[in-house]
Amino acid sequence: MILLTGGAGYIGSHVCIALLDAGFDVVAIDNLCNSNRASLDRVEAICGRAPVFRHVDIRDEEAVFEVLRACGVTAVIHLAGLKAVGESSADPMTYYDNNVVGTMRLVSAMKRAKVKTLVFSSSATVYGMPTYLPLDERHPLAPTNPYGRTKLIVEEMLKDLYRSEDDWRIGILRYFNPAGAHESGLVGEDPIGVPNNLVPLVAQVAIGRRAKLRIWGNDYDTPDGTGIRDFIHVVDLAAGHLSVLRHLEQPGVFTVNLGTGSGSSVLEVVRAFETASGRSIPYEIADRRTGDVAICCADPSFAQRTLDWKSARSLAQMCADHWHWQLKNPDGYRDI
Ligand code: NAD
Ligand code: UFG
Repeated sequence: MILLTGGAGYIGSHVCIALLDAGFDVVAIDNLCNSNRASLDRVEAICGRAPVFRHVDIRDEEAVFEVLRACGVTAVIHLAGLKAVGESSADPMTYYDNNVVGTMRLVSAMKRAKVKTLVFSSSATVYGMPTYLPLDERHPLAPTNPYGRTKLIVEEMLKDLYRSEDDWRIGILRYFNPAGAHESGLVGEDPIGVPNNLVPLVAQVAIGRRAKLRIWGNDYDTPDGTGIRDFIHVVDLAAGHLSVLRHLEQPGVFTVNLGTGSGSSVLEVVRAFETASGRSIPYEIADRRTGDVAICCADPSFAQRTLDWKSARSLAQMCADHWHWQLKNPDGYRDI
């Protein structure tokens, strides 16, 4: 039985599908602060069987311990957390509480339950401003915002944990830019409020929920002047978690990038989405967003070598799947 924290969220619901499809049993916990319980009903519709769901906050150590014990959990995939960069600067304590204290409580419950296999969702944001590209796992770590610092603190905390008890099996996954949706169009990203990220925003413009996209700067040192990111299909990202679980048969701490190795500019994403949706995406060029870098792109070779995993889906597929989800669910899970 795998415990999936943040299991009702965007990446969580896709990881849940991957696990169920691979034959694992899953118990998902979530406090639903940024998600909808309906996502897991959709997971059941796709997989033909349901994950167990418990409405639990990871900061509630007793409740987490009870789930671990009662469900016979053998490994934890930990995705629960807050992830809005701007909000983390405005309200850093909430981020430290959720992401750092939350992980401390989770680990404490795991120690008590003697569950010592943990996969943690970190982020490429821990690299900060690239000093060289593409970003490999040895690149210096210098996050530029509180959200990124919570991820780095947890990474360091988990390494200290392993140094103190060397029977832990820990996988630290640095995600690049997840986008897209399951091919069924039944689960996808359903951000509450105005999306912070490019692809959900573009999708909401395409569907008519927002009038236009603001492109944050077209004067970067890139071929078309707009920022370049490593967009990875969320289904490929979810598959990466299975490879990591298989890899964690030996004790140790393992840190790996999950990206594609190929970057797309904001304008390329807009054009790919226009092609996928058959709609035009009105946009205007605005000032650069504070803290943005010109290019953020993974070196995914360590993942390929050690996990025998690499992303398979193209940007066109990502936009087509994201659009399929958006079209079927114009108001996300609130349509239900
Ligand atoms: P999401 O908000 O859709 O999912 C996170 C889930 O965690 C939500 O369902 C939320 O309700 C839940 N949650 C938050 N705090 C909780 C708490 N204290 N107790 C229990 N549940 C709680 O976000 P996502 O995009 O699916 O991200 C999942 C993880 O991946 C996060 O840790 C995020 O930081 C990380 N990540 C995401 C991205 C991205 O661009 N989406 C990039 C890098 C890393
Ligand atoms: N962008 C726009 N307009 C928007 C939103 C984004 O032009 O309305 C541009 C950004 O300036 C950037 C690109 O689109 O050039 C991607 O921006 P996102 O906000 O989608 O993604 P980021 O790369 O800034 O950050 C994301 C997550 C972080 C995570 C990081 C990992 O938000 O949490 O990817 O690489 F850490």
